[in-house]
Amino acid sequence: MTTRQRGGPVRPPGRPGRRTEPVAASASASAFELAEAVIRRSDREHPADDRLRQVLRESRAVTPKQARLVSGAVFAYYRWRGWLDPEQPLSQQLAQALDLARGFARDPMGIPEADLRARAIPSWVASELEVTEGWLRHLQTEPPLWLRARVGGGVRLARELDHCRPAGTGRLADALRYQGREDLFRSAAFHRGDFEIQDLHSQAVGWLCDPQPGETWWDACAGEGGKTLHLAELMRNRGLIWATDRAAWRLDRLRRRAARARVFNYRARGWDGAAARPFRTPCDGVLVDAPCSNLGTWQRNPQARWTTTPADVRELAIRQLDLLTNVVAALRPGGRLFYAVCTLTRAETTGVAEALARGQPDLEPMPLVHPLCPEAPARSELWLDPGATGANGMFVAAWRRKAAVS
Ligand SMILES: C[S@@+](CC[C@H](N)C(=O)[O-])C[C@H]1O[C@@H](n2cnc3c(N)ncnc32)[C@H](O)[C@@H]1O
Repeated sequence: MTTRQRGGPVRPPGRPGRRTEPVAASASASAFELAEAVIRRSDREHPADDRLRQVLRESRAVTPKQARLVSGAVFAYYRWRGWLDPEQPLSQQLAQALDLARGFARDPMGIPEADLRARAIPSWVASELEVTEGWLRHLQTEPPLWLRARVGGGVRLARELDHCRPAGTGRLADALRYQGREDLFRSAAFHRGDFEIQDLHSQAVGWLCDPQPGETWWDACAGEGGKTLHLAELMRNRGLIWATDRAAWRLDRLRRRAARARVFNYRARGWDGAAARPFRTPCDGVLVDAPCSNLGTWQRNPQARWTTTPADVRELAIRQLDLLTNVVAALRPGGRLFYAVCTLTRAETTGVAEALARGQPDLEPMPLVHPLCPEAPARSELWLDPGATGANGMFVAAWRRKAAVS
């Protein structure tokens, strides 16, 4: 998954190297017309949130309020698509989707479980995981927006930004739930590098890794750097993080984000997941935040419910196991390996963790304390439940490389 929170503040991503046709949307076009333009141009290869940014960028006179309306209509359409009649004009489907969303917000139990099972997700999902009523109801709600303040800076940031509250005390005080409507990317605090937009459970992955100042880490699927920046912050900018990814444009964004966040203890390198590593340093820790089917983000990114296939699940499970297998040699004896995915399918998650453990006798499971339920027994495989917090669903497994036998 990208750790950019879909359905969050809307602004053009400025992604380099991607030129697309301008969208025919005049400044006077209504929010519905703009939403229709987004939906017509979105498909599996062109995610709706990218198209949304594109349409808004090209419709220069759009006010922040209109942008919110367009974004709300687009995401409601995908969230309620199973209830809509594709034969109807798109404008009517949008109106119906918004009605359904409002009705559900007023009365979340008003839709029977059987209806949710039949319409909120495609039928193939039931063979990949145990679908609970709680998850289905969670999927139909609007996602909260989470911020990650700098270590120890949460309380001050919550005072500076309106409509913000910490997720808890201690470390959780730096994870803020934002319920305002401002464009946070324009805030002084964002430009000072005082916070990142990052899902609560993605933040939990950083806490679980618990990297120490001076250590060497490898963030093997670093993407745009959501977790790299968190690891660097937890390491107090001391030590080294190798940040690798196969997508060069993502690493470019990582570099820009790192500069704004004043993170310097990293080196970004291209890596395609093969056995050959782009560096030789032995690592104290490796994080594989692997490409996955993203079912855990289907609340935030409802379009993906209709574009993901069972074949994706199979293919991604194989890729995850390859990536994990290929990083093991980078661990020093005693080094820790973390596998994280924002999905819920058995074939990925536990299926991959079991296959890795079978093939790697040098690894031993490492118990983890759930960062949001510290009283629960420590386990080497953790589910970060989407229904419990309103954050993305994630799975994390951890191992330690056995110390060399002398
Ligand atoms: C879940 S995303 C990473 C998100 C990122 N860690 C963050 O927190 O912002 C998975 C990443 O894996 C990368 N990826 C996919 N296949 C890969 C491969 N074979 N080798 C290396 N990276 C790969 C993708 O480009 C994507 O950036």
